[in-house]
Amino acid sequence: MRIVITEQPELVIADRVAAAVRDGARTIGLATGSSPLKAYGELIRRHRDEGLSFAGVSAVLLDEYIGLPPDHSQSFARFIREHLTDGLDLAAVYAPDGMAADLPAAARAYDELIARFGPVSVQVLGIGANGHLGFNEPGSSFTSRSRVVQLARRTREDNARFFGSVDQVPSSAITQGLGTICEAQEPVLIATGEAKAEAVAAAVEGPVGVGCPASVLRRHPHATIAVDEAAAGLLHHRERYRLPDT
Ligand code: F6R
Repeated sequence: MRIVITEQPELVIADRVAAAVRDGARTIGLATGSSPLKAYGELIRRHRDEGLSFAGVSAVLLDEYIGLPPDHSQSFARFIREHLTDGLDLAAVYAPDGMAADLPAAARAYDELIARFGPVSVQVLGIGANGHLGFNEPGSSFTSRSRVVQLARRTREDNARFFGSVDQVPSSAITQGLGTICEAQEPVLIATGEAKAEAVAAAVEGPVGVGCPASVLRRHPHATIAVDEAAAGLLHHRERYRLPDT
């Protein structure tokens, strides 16, 4: 795993997505949440000012809450439209169907859709304060596929800022599995701020295992994690990661 410590990790993410698209990517993977917002702003700017075109490229989201229709103010489908895809010229954007009558079948269908459109070239990721990737909470299998999951209390508390109160945060979601995510050719994770320092340290330097789902990226040959100084604050070997040979 390549670790980049920089005050502008959003540029690392935007550069990787732009490079994939210029190299002919058919499908890119998108995370929601606060972490990638600056990177998404930069992609919209490059599309508008520099002619970076996403024509012919489809996007797949990592996850969606169960019980929120796609036009709900806090659905991930709406979030990504408002913060990224309305500003680009993507061919299509797909999200899991959190309103399906048969949710396990919808999750399986989402995995099939990704397989059909895949491989995902670059997959943008954030990390939960508990180390989750997508909504794969601690304890998730590294080979898991897209499925229905219960959200950890910590995740619901962290996301209460979008909903007003923790009780309004849905308790379950459909998420791409860790196995699904790791089929992307190039996962790129962005983490900023002190609140992510513990999770980043666990993912990068802790044991590889279900205790920290994001640690699965250490098994991926082309994963990058881009962090600012605050998020890198608990990395024991951070000076080494700054060297050109690491
Ligand atoms: C979002 C997702 C989550 C977030 C993570 C960090 O689609 O899958 O894993 O990336 O919860 O969220 P933020 O960036 O809001 O801190």
